[in-house]
Amino acid sequence: MKILLTGGAGYIGSHTAVELLAAGHDIVIGDNFSNSKKDVIDRIKQIAKRDFKLYEIDFADAKATDELFAKEDLDAVIHFAGYKAVGESCKMPIEYYRNNIDSTLNVLSSMRKYGVKNIVFSSSATVYGVPKQVPLKEDMPTSCTNPYGWTKYMNEQILRDTATAEPDFSVVLLRYFNPIGAHESGLIGENPNGVPNNLMPYIAKVATGELPKLNIFGNDYATKDGTGVRDYIHVVDLAKGHLKAIEYSCKNKGAEVFNLGTGVGYSVLDIVHAFEEANNVKVPYAIVDRRPGDVAECYSDASKAHKILGWTAEKNMVQMCRDSWNWQQNIKL
Ligand code: WQD
Repeated sequence: MKILLTGGAGYIGSHTAVELLAAGHDIVIGDNFSNSKKDVIDRIKQIAKRDFKLYEIDFADAKATDELFAKEDLDAVIHFAGYKAVGESCKMPIEYYRNNIDSTLNVLSSMRKYGVKNIVFSSSATVYGVPKQVPLKEDMPTSCTNPYGWTKYMNEQILRDTATAEPDFSVVLLRYFNPIGAHESGLIGENPNGVPNNLMPYIAKVATGELPKLNIFGNDYATKDGTGVRDYIHVVDLAKGHLKAIEYSCKNKGAEVFNLGTGVGYSVLDIVHAFEEANNVKVPYAIVDRRPGDVAECYSDASKAHKILGWTAEKNMVQMCRDSWNWQQNIKL
């Protein structure tokens, strides 16, 4: 198949590109590099030992999106492109709604115009809002606590409605939990601009000495050690989930949603200790106030993806920590 990866130079997109190429698919990457670096493209090619076309493109631009679809005879789309920082979305809601919703509407309009019937969408566990109970199952209530989450929620609804209106469309919604780690080559990984928002890249920068210590946002949650509990999943396991989702999409019509997580919750302190042990490094930390918007616990019931997609996360926490550390040391090269 020939698959367009919108935002394919990003953290999840680049790892998914590697897995799709390894599985023999052809890919096209479209990215505006607003939250990724151009050298990722050559690194994907280096890992996969295969070539592919790149478009430097903003999918919020309807004309540019249409031109890409007119040029490329596509079979499917995996739609990663979108802004994704929770805190930033609270400060810039207009930009988040404009970018994240318009890009989806443009991609869907072009898919309909050029007869592309299959789309996999990068959604997020953030659509569950403040979980009433864990583990989270796909049929549990959704409601968001920030504009970023609402863009994921609204895009899910837009995609479901499109699948209803276009009977031969296939829509697969993937709700990611907390992706961490990096490809074993150390050539691609999470490389956020500036000071990382997310836990693992922050810990890795503390371990290199780039940052003085980790600030743990609260230890007074109703969890086993008071710190936040999340479902951390290796980004390569997540990427493999997209391969299974594409295969599922080609055999099924309509819309379906899947959690992509491990089903295991780890606390912040669990991650700090696992990282120190796996890599024989120290991660100094201080307990500070809670971060607004954080929830106590969020982890998945991933059994639906196992049953229907035939996918289960395989990598363990030691591998997640080692691959994160390997990547962090390579970035400095
Ligand atoms: C994890 C835990 C923090 C940083 C977010 C988005 C989600 C998805 C993944 C896009 C929490 C604690 C963190 C730090 C800390 N992104 N923490 N000190 O908030 O669960 O999820 O990223 O799809 O949509 O919401 O991830 O890594 O920011 O936090 O104590 O410096 O680590 O309180 O308990 P989060 P995170």
